[in-house]
Amino acid sequence: MELPAHGWSKEEVYAALEKKRRGDVPWRSGRAFAYVYDGGPEIEEVAKKAYMAFLTENGLDPTAFPSLLTFENDLIAIARTHLHGGPEVVGTFTSGGTESIMLAVKAARDLAKAKRGVTQPKMIVPITAHAAFHKAGRYLGVEVVATAVDPVTFRADVAAMEAAVDERTVLLVGSASGYAHGVVDPIAAIADLAQRRGLYCHVDGCIGGFLLPYFARLGESVPDFDFRVPGVTSISMDLHKYALTPKGASVVLFANDELRRAQYFACSQWTGYTMINPTIQSSKSGGPLAAAWAVMHSVGDDGYLRIAKGLLETKRAILEGIRGIDGLAVMGEPEMCLVAFTSEDVPIFPMADAMKARGWLVQPQLAFGSSRENLHLTIQPSNVKWTETFLQDLREARDEAKKAAEAYEGTRAFAAMFAERLTGPDAMAALPTLIESLGVGTGGAMPDKMAEVNAILNAMPRPIQEELLTRFVSMLFQPTSTARGAR
Ligand SMILES: Cc1ncc(COP(=O)(O)O)c(C=O)c1O
Repeated sequence: MELPAHGWSKEEVYAALEKKRRGDVPWRSGRAFAYVYDGGPEIEEVAKKAYMAFLTENGLDPTAFPSLLTFENDLIAIARTHLHGGPEVVGTFTSGGTESIMLAVKAARDLAKAKRGVTQPKMIVPITAHAAFHKAGRYLGVEVVATAVDPVTFRADVAAMEAAVDERTVLLVGSASGYAHGVVDPIAAIADLAQRRGLYCHVDGCIGGFLLPYFARLGESVPDFDFRVPGVTSISMDLHKYALTPKGASVVLFANDELRRAQYFACSQWTGYTMINPTIQSSKSGGPLAAAWAVMHSVGDDGYLRIAKGLLETKRAILEGIRGIDGLAVMGEPEMCLVAFTSEDVPIFPMADAMKARGWLVQPQLAFGSSRENLHLTIQPSNVKWTETFLQDLREARDEAKKAAEAYEGTRAFAAMFAERLTGPDAMAALPTLIESLGVGTGGAMPDKMAEVNAILNAMPRPIQEELLTRFVSMLFQPTSTARGAR
């Protein structure tokens, strides 16, 4: 493919954009329980206007664009109040949860090296902690020790974390809440352990940090997880989730400026401009920051409380509904509006396909440790009006999956056989054939029914699964092969 020899008209470009999005998840339907946090057309309008107004401004140099500096200082102040931080708490606006987590890990790593001389650092995270901690560990050379969680509540087992602490440990992690089961870890006990052993303690509030305080105000029982808890040294909280701002918006807060400075990067050992970056990104659009500021001022505290009420009521109704469906079981007791449910007698992955056929997007989660394979719902504002229809369709999907249970046993046996083959020395060589046999094509053509793919992934040894996924995504991102851009 090459550039068009002559530029297209604006109309041609816009038409081509619309054509490209035809296969995308139709998130405005309110039937997606993943990927989007849709606050509705009013919020979308404010977000787009603000985003576009600051699209080209560059966050690289806060002295050149003081507007961006004041947006950030305002948002950090708001976040600090929200999370009960005192005047010594400071923070940074980042591009998302992963970046906030990476920066918190970097700060802990660098300060522990400076203060304690730790050169081979470790962090201890419950197995329910987000994969972003593993990513941070691999990028930053910090070993991740993943510890067990309670098999019923899915909350971190603090005794297991304590048993894993040694002289190389720099950081303990707890989630408020975790993504997979929506439950809050015992943050007070984790932070107390950190204090007793002289460690940093990061609370991952990426998904729950903004919303849980509203749930608490509405009467939900939410344990303290923020800066009121002694020993908490940093918190990540995404705005592009339940603050309903466009993607590219999160904050990471630190208990003091010394910690935050360890997250910064400064370099004067080159020939160009003076470089001091608070974040991983250097040049960055002002769009996400301006949009976050605008949306949060437009919705306001009363608006978020109203939205939270709808989410909380929907969560309660969905929990009750699922518990009333024979054969399905909710995993744990989620404080957040994140629901994972599983079954011992209904094959769960075919249920996701049956729900897809009815226009719903629910997310399969593979088995890991004490967590069985399950389906996950991220309940977000545009789902609220659909509770009854959703539960009705879920009942039908349960019946359909139950009827197909015998056939699915065949799939499971095939998956187990394949997984076995993948443990031998020829494992890597078998992967391309496997990907092809599953009906996955170059450029992202996916089979309609994903149950088989999920069953195979579920049965695989984890390192092989990571290799398979890497190869699959590498197949997706292949340069377009048409001669010139098709309209
Ligand atoms: C608890 C938690 N932490 C971290 C992340 C990572 O956030 P992001 O996808 O914005 O990088 C997520 C995303 O869902 C999350 O739920």
